Amino acid sequence: MLSSGALSLAFLSLASVARTATVTYDWTATWVWASPDGYGRPVVGINNQWPCPKIEATVGDTVVINFTNNLGNQTSGLHFHGINQVQTPEMDGPSGVTQCPVPPGSTLTYKFVVDIGGTFWYHSHNMGQYPDGLRGVFIVHDPNDPYSGKYDEEVIMTVSDWYHNESLPLVRNMLQPSNTRFAPPIPDRLIVNEGAGLLVNFTKGKTYRFRVISFAALASFMIHFDSHDMNIIMNDAAYLKQEAAQQIRIAAAQRYDFLVEAKDGDSGNYPFLVAMDINRDWTNTDLGALVWPHNYTGYLVMDPSKPTDKLDVVSEFSPADDAHFKPHDGAAPYANYTSHIKLDFDFCTDANGIPRACFNNVTYIGQPVPTLYSAATTGDNNTNPIVYGQVNPFVVSYGEVVQIVVNNHDEATHPFHLHGHHFQVLDRPASGAGDWPGTDAGYAAEPPMRDTVTIMGKSHAVLRFKATNPGVWLFHCHIEWHVEMGLTATIIEAPEKLRDHTFPSDHLDACHKLKIPTEGNAAGNTVNVLDTSGYVTVNPTTYNGAMYTPPPNKRCKPQKG
Ligand SMILES: *[C@@H]1O[C@H](CO)[C@@H](O)[C@H](O)[C@H]1NC(C)=O
Ligand SMILES: *[C@@H]1O[C@H](CO)[C@@H](O)[C@H](O)[C@H]1NC(C)=O
Ligand SMILES: *[C@@H]1O[C@H](CO)[C@@H](O)[C@H](O)[C@H]1NC(C)=O
Ligand SMILES: *[C@@H]1O[C@H](CO)[C@@H](O)[C@H](O)[C@H]1NC(C)=O
Ligand SMILES: *[C@@H]1O[C@H](CO)[C@@H](O)[C@H](O)[C@H]1NC(C)=O
Ligand SMILES: *[C@@H]1O[C@H](CO)[C@@H](O)[C@H](O)[C@H]1NC(C)=O
Ligand SMILES: *[C@@H]1O[C@H](CO)[C@@H](O)[C@H](O)[C@H]1NC(C)=O
Ligand SMILES: *[C@@H]1O[C@H](CO)[C@@H](O)[C@H](O)[C@H]1NC(C)=O
Repeated sequence: MLSSGALSLAFLSLASVARTATVTYDWTATWVWASPDGYGRPVVGINNQWPCPKIEATVGDTVVINFTNNLGNQTSGLHFHGINQVQTPEMDGPSGVTQCPVPPGSTLTYKFVVDIGGTFWYHSHNMGQYPDGLRGVFIVHDPNDPYSGKYDEEVIMTVSDWYHNESLPLVRNMLQPSNTRFAPPIPDRLIVNEGAGLLVNFTKGKTYRFRVISFAALASFMIHFDSHDMNIIMNDAAYLKQEAAQQIRIAAAQRYDFLVEAKDGDSGNYPFLVAMDINRDWTNTDLGALVWPHNYTGYLVMDPSKPTDKLDVVSEFSPADDAHFKPHDGAAPYANYTSHIKLDFDFCTDANGIPRACFNNVTYIGQPVPTLYSAATTGDNNTNPIVYGQVNPFVVSYGEVVQIVVNNHDEATHPFHLHGHHFQVLDRPASGAGDWPGTDAGYAAEPPMRDTVTIMGKSHAVLRFKATNPGVWLFHCHIEWHVEMGLTATIIEAPEKLRDHTFPSDHLDACHKLKIPTEGNAAGNTVNVLDTSGYVTVNPTTYNGAMYTPPPNKRCKPQKG
């Protein structure tokens, strides 16, 4: 006889089968002319449109994106930021990591299950391409949302810096020996909802759930809603205990969900402010006077017949401290970590005098073979970091609790992102706190979970996650220009479970078209996977970004056998 527990389990799984669906998108990347701020330029759009379309699904759904690259002169690809890709690490999207770049004329299908709800985004993870426009909103609705019923309407707001030049010349200009100050490209403008802006129809008695997403390449944004609180309920698709904030700061790639209530006494129209923060560290005026060169004012509109011209002026920015938000489930820090990864971040210079960014004095250099392909094809040797080349690999075993400590030796703040996981933010001290002292003390009792955390200047952060998601996951600064400078490490998670991992034929075809090997170590050596010949140890002096050059017609290496 079945126990009642087994019965209810069987019932639950039936119910969830009935609920889930497959959501399919047929997308072709193309160049589109757009002028989101009044200045026309080519952008990377989808199906000849820009802004790019929204992905919308429900927890448990399978999302299928049939992605064709029709750019002609650039390779491409998509990453789904915040989606953990459980059991589908090959769908994560970064070029050279979990797939080859998608060459012009090729189609590649992404297929994965969305396991948690929240506010996400997708973007190209291919050689500095997303600031050229290839990014969009990704919403996963959650039938078990603890805040469902607490709001009436949803409002999506994307914030981004914007450049009039294309990424390729911008990065080329940055990666010059003359750039001894490691200066990134400075944005020309701030755009909200990709230039469309935001007027919210604000009705007395209603509560609005804002889903704010930063598409930025560099900048952060201070957000303030005049006389209305932002009641924060989620960050980076992780539920929080509700907390009122007057100001928030959102860094590149972060998301905030918050409730704004139209109060009984409200009348008229209310401005709200989005101020671009390109200060190196807004808490440190020793670096010079703070500057706020680009603002956007949106409005909560109660009465369209009344003017929307008032500005929301803030005399001093003092955003809520997101390291002290509390997770909705009240979970404590993961205990007894067995893996400790210490990452000292410094700017550095390579053998050609080109400015780079380093973890532990080593800059990330993409290798010929995507790292996940090496993990899948180097047998027992896939636990040996040597097989991956200079991708700053860190191997952790299945089930370990992993502690990552980042010591930021730069004076500026930097937002760090981990693929494949939410991590707990145990500690994120103020600017000037220096390196991690080497002891585990003073941590949050209920650490918030995020996928992207801002680390303050000359300070550090302590993060933890559970290694239960086999795959190859990048950990990097989400300032896209710093990714191109090499500010990336690679977590090789549970390689012992990746040995038989297989790849769809269209993913392999993308590699074959580009004559990129799909087996062996970082250089495609299959006979002796500890043979490091062919590894890339210095970047080419000319940066070509996503520019497509057809591969030479001969094999790069003589065939074995
Ligand atoms: C995917 O797109 C390609 C090229 O547009 C098309 O040939 C193919 O039929 C599409 N596949 C699916 C499953 O929609
Ligand atoms: C940006 O574009 C302008 C106009 O084409 C050009 O003068 C300038 O040199 C470019 N800057 C960079 C960094 O490429
Ligand atoms: C806001 O209200 C105006 C006028 O009633 C309407 O045209 C517009 O579509 C509404 N916008 C939204 C986002 O609902
Ligand atoms: C942007 O807003 C801030 C805060 O209100 C203000 O200090 C700054 O002067 C504004 N910038 C511009 C260019 O108006
Ligand atoms: C951590 O280790 C301590 C001491 O061995 C043990 O009492 C505790 O149960 C462990 N906690 C977890 C979550 O495994
Ligand atoms: C990086 O290089 C500096 C200067 O040579 C040295 O002091 C430091 O110990 C190095 N750090 C690591 C992690 O190797
Ligand atoms: C690891 O690689 C070395 C060199 O290729 C090889 O001799 C050895 O057999 C490999 N070990 C396993 C378990 O595959
Ligand atoms: C590719 O084509 C687009 C659209 O014409 C152009 O703006 C861009 O500069 C071209 N070159 C590269 C390397 O992207």
